[in-house]
Amino acid sequence: MLKQRSNLTVPEIELALKSALRQGMIREEDSAVMFYDLAFFTERLNYLIACFPATTLHGLAVKANPLRGVMELASETGRNQACNIGVEAASIGEVDMALNAGYDPSRIVYDSPVKTLKELEFALASGVHINIDNLDELERVNLLLKTTPSTSTFGIRINPQVGVGTILESSVAGEYSKFGVPIGSRKEELTKAFLTFPWLQGMHLHVGSQGCSTEMLVRGIGVLYDFALTLNQLRTSINFPPINIFDIGGGLPVSYNGMVPASSMGDYAAAIKQRAPMLSAFKIITEFGRWIYTNAGWTVSKVEYVKHDPGVNTAMLHVGADLFIRECLNPKDWQHEYSVYDKTGNLKMGNDTVPYTLAGPLCFAGDILARGVILPVVEAGDYLVIHDTGSYTFSMWSHYNSRQTPRILGYSREKFEILKERQGLGEVRDFWK
Ligand SMILES: Cc1ncc(COP(=O)(O)O)c(C=O)c1O
Repeated sequence: MLKQRSNLTVPEIELALKSALRQGMIREEDSAVMFYDLAFFTERLNYLIACFPATTLHGLAVKANPLRGVMELASETGRNQACNIGVEAASIGEVDMALNAGYDPSRIVYDSPVKTLKELEFALASGVHINIDNLDELERVNLLLKTTPSTSTFGIRINPQVGVGTILESSVAGEYSKFGVPIGSRKEELTKAFLTFPWLQGMHLHVGSQGCSTEMLVRGIGVLYDFALTLNQLRTSINFPPINIFDIGGGLPVSYNGMVPASSMGDYAAAIKQRAPMLSAFKIITEFGRWIYTNAGWTVSKVEYVKHDPGVNTAMLHVGADLFIRECLNPKDWQHEYSVYDKTGNLKMGNDTVPYTLAGPLCFAGDILARGVILPVVEAGDYLVIHDTGSYTFSMWSHYNSRQTPRILGYSREKFEILKERQGLGEVRDFWK
């Protein structure tokens, strides 16, 4: 069995940074650059594949990282392993991107909670798997299917109501959630739906993201699994095909700063197997984002200035709330590790006696990545690395202040490729037209 690696180490990052500098991959204008260790990413993907039955469709959450190059690499890795690597798309835009990147429609899971009639028509015509969000949407799809021939398959999102995790903003299986149909108050309607529509053959849940324990995720799966088994007995008795698609969503947390231990995908898969032993009779779908991408990425910013005030040093950086919106708005819950390197990429050691505030470039006071950070002595011209930035960063980019998006590099063993070029000023201008 493969082993799950946790985070990239400082020596690994130092090696890549030095090498990027030596090879001229960080140019004068690259005030910030994002990096993806593609070998690490592929390793994560292979580990995921090894944890679940071979028939599982792994729909990687596009929202976590929509970079085309990474989507293509994921698809290629799946092909090499003869495994189903697909995507989970949260909008018709993401569906379109996946189709465009060459994903077969049967490997695309369309999940938006606000699908318009037109978007549903497009999805049905494309033949992607559709997770219906609510009972009104179910009626809408039923009407469409009377006139639109489609090869799509369908699930419905059910909220198992197993509670919230430590981060409210990323918890979606509490008593109330804007997503899905709550099982507690709507079990009768859900049962009726499954006994009315033979084509409704899937169940979907997503308990939450960072901050939800493995135990809570498994509990959510258990609630729907029991319901599916009961419904299948009823469906068999009326000659309906069984529910045979079970989408467990994403949500396995990762370690950002060493304080929260990394969750093991192997342990998670084993716990699911124990709670839901017959799950392998279903076609399982997974929708991981954060666990796949986060630890493969890191971001470097040049330190432009260091301000020295009584009791606090402020490192002025080229990324802030534009790339790290969650960190800046909710710093308690989103804390990264940081490391500092000199102009040639050598790791700086030791601790300054004065703690650092890491300030972004945007024009509002809340554009602060972190406060009270103990670092080596930081000087203008140094490089500050923010660790574990591979998910929910660039995909949440803010255009506020019209700053240029950074160059994004992928690498494997010191060989670099440009995944996305730094935005030019013309492109920034064009955005507002
Ligand atoms: C429906 C759904 N699936 C999958 C994901 C991916 O979750 P994670 O990145 O935590 O694995 C999300 C995250 O918001 C989601 O809403």
